[in-house]
Formats: sequence, structure tokens, C-alpha cells
Amino acid sequence: PSLVVLISGSGSNLQALIDAREAGDLPADIRAVISNRPDAYGLERARAAGIHTEVLDHRDFAGRTAYDTALQQRIDAHAPELVVLAGFMRILTDELVNHFRGRMLNIHPSLLPAFRGLHTHSRALEAGHSEHGCSVHFVTPALDAGPVIAQGVVPIEADDSEPVLARRVRQQEHRIYPLVVRWFAQGRLQLDGDTAVLDGQPL
Ligand code: GRF
Repeated sequence: PSLVVLISGSGSNLQALIDAREAGDLPADIRAVISNRPDAYGLERARAAGIHTEVLDHRDFAGRTAYDTALQQRIDAHAPELVVLAGFMRILTDELVNHFRGRMLNIHPSLLPAFRGLHTHSRALEAGHSEHGCSVHFVTPALDAGPVIAQGVVPIEADDSEPVLARRVRQQEHRIYPLVVRWFAQGRLQLDGDTAVLDGQPL
């Protein structure tokens, strides 16, 4: 199966997918990496791996609908089976999300449904929680609210700072995202209505 990966920044999750592929753990073809930011470091990671890159700069568009229409066309040009959001820091229109329903994944740095949106690590610290983590979910129109497929859990230690906690969570992201993408690539994972299904079992 073929993938298109969308990024805005560092691309460490993209790197985890590239590494899994090179290790033979991900039977999928990364057709293209698309960034809304021309300076995203993840573009260099993609180029270094010989993957086609594209920049679609949101500042060149009048608004969200115009941008997402162009983005949908760019993605569709590669006819991917799966679209992987890997630190793509934009809210998507319902139209785009519905177009890719059941074939778009996102990774979010919290144990959803806790801490949707931004600044999840500092919010987890402020809340005094003892655990935190990350979630991979199917993308549906409500922000960070699609059916969760897998989570990586980490402890919050008493003296944690935001960067230390973020790094601990990131390690889990790099473990679970390639795993979930592999399930999809193997045909084991589907979205059935509003339920994620793995190996025929609702999650
Ligand atoms: C990750 O924390 C991811 O959960 C969030 O954005 C960040 C992307 O990091 N959605 P990277 O660009 O993959 O390094």
C-alpha cells in the first residue's frame, strides 16, 4: 500500500516510519511527504531517504477552504491508500476529513480523550496526573476526537519538566505510529462507522 505523510515540523515521527520501512517492518511505500511549512526539517529527512517532497504553503492561500481544496488535490494525485498526519499543525476542514474518512491517521501527544488541542505536556503536568502519553486515532471531523487505535503510556515523575516529559512521550510516539501504520498496511485495521476495528475486533 502507498502512503502520503503530512508534516509541519521536525518530522521525527516521519523518521520513525522511514526507519521502520528500512528495517523491513513496514510493508508500505511512502509516495510523498507534504509540508505546509517550507522550512520544516522533516523535508530534509524525506529527501535524505529519497522520498518525493512537496511544499504547500498555507500563506499562499486566502483561507482554509482554498488551502484544503488544494491539499486534497495534491494528496489525491498520489492516490494513497493511507494519509498519515505526522505533526501536521493545521485544523482540517470537514470536507477534507470526510474525503479521507477511514484512511487518515493522526498522532496526538496525550492519552485521549484527555488534553485535546495544544500544549498537552504542560497541561498534563499542571493537572498533576501520574501518567501521560500519546494516541494514534482515525481522523474524523471533531478535533482530536476520532476513534483511538493505540496509546503509549509513560509515567510523570515528580521533577519532570515539559521538555523531559515531551521527550519521554515522543519515544512512545515513535514506537506506536509505525505499529499502527503497519496494521493498516497489512489490511488488519479499518474504521467501521465510528469504531476502529483491528483483526475484526472493535477497539
Ligand atoms: C508530535 O508530538 C505529535 O504527537 C504532534 O506533533 C508532534 C510532531 O513531532 N502531533 P514530529 O514533527 O513528528 O517530530
